[in-house]
Amino acid sequence: MIWIHRNYKRGFDHISKAEMLALGLEQVSERFFTGQTFDLSISAYAGFSVEEISRGTSPEEAILNFKADIPSPYRMEKLTKTRRAGSFSYAMFAEKHLGGEIRAADPASIILVFTPDQTTWIAGFLTEKEESIIEKMEEITERTCVSLSSQAALALVNLAPGEPIVDPCCGTGLIPLASLLRKKKTFTADNNYKMLRMARLNRDLLGLDIEIPYKNALEPWLENGCLVSDFPADRSWNSNRKDISLELFKAWIPHIKSFCIILPCRVLESLPGNIKITDKINFTADRVIIIGTVK
Ligand SMILES: C[S@@+](CC[C@H](N)C(=O)[O-])C[C@H]1O[C@@H](n2cnc3c(N)ncnc32)[C@H](O)[C@@H]1O
Repeated sequence: MIWIHRNYKRGFDHISKAEMLALGLEQVSERFFTGQTFDLSISAYAGFSVEEISRGTSPEEAILNFKADIPSPYRMEKLTKTRRAGSFSYAMFAEKHLGGEIRAADPASIILVFTPDQTTWIAGFLTEKEESIIEKMEEITERTCVSLSSQAALALVNLAPGEPIVDPCCGTGLIPLASLLRKKKTFTADNNYKMLRMARLNRDLLGLDIEIPYKNALEPWLENGCLVSDFPADRSWNSNRKDISLELFKAWIPHIKSFCIILPCRVLESLPGNIKITDKINFTADRVIIIGTVK
């Protein structure tokens, strides 16, 4: 059994939970999810994982029950709330009862002792998140200036119920670039030359291969894809003008099979009837992510 720790910022609790569930995990406590296998590198919000070796009713019992070859030297860690740290007392206890050589720096393995529910204690081998998609995207995030974080963009791609992914309003390109890093077939465009320049620069910095042309999203240009987009926000929220994000979505509905898009909450009541929504996820700034298929 593998335990996966969720790492999310305030405001992103719903999308991070939805992403972990969409990747096949089961939630056990606020931070911990479980599964049989898990690829940490593709997830936006998974922080680290632990392969469970033993359990007990106390940390000491979990360590005593630890029956496995331990790559040595090894480091003992504990988890306090969300903070992981080396534990001198667990290290002393483990060295006495499990043997091997303890070392804090550059260990060959790390054993984490934690309790997901304040009742059961678990001890297991820890795996750090390495060479992940999010790490790669951090190379470009300081260049991006808009409402979406790279974590949320990757989570949207992981939540998308179909392929190819199409984002007709790519802005700086976080969604299509995350999608390409997930090796999904991807199409994208925007109608703002400044944004297109940034998206192409970001694409080149990541060494990815995709055309990012100028196109007006109000005239759909791809059939049968999965629409994944962070639509432009309407500036005048109090006016009676049509909502631009809703207009863009409606324009694409006849041309797509499925969708995972961010909309302002206020347009939810005006959605057309020819779509089937399978999930609604609260998002930041009074927005909601809707996921579903076209009837
Ligand atoms: C909220 S931003 C998207 C941000 C993006 N997710 C990113 O990673 O930077 C919305 C984008 O929609 C684009 N847009 C607005 N109206 C459009 C239209 N009619 N056709 C294509 N793109 C449009 C804007 O230029 C802007 O880049």
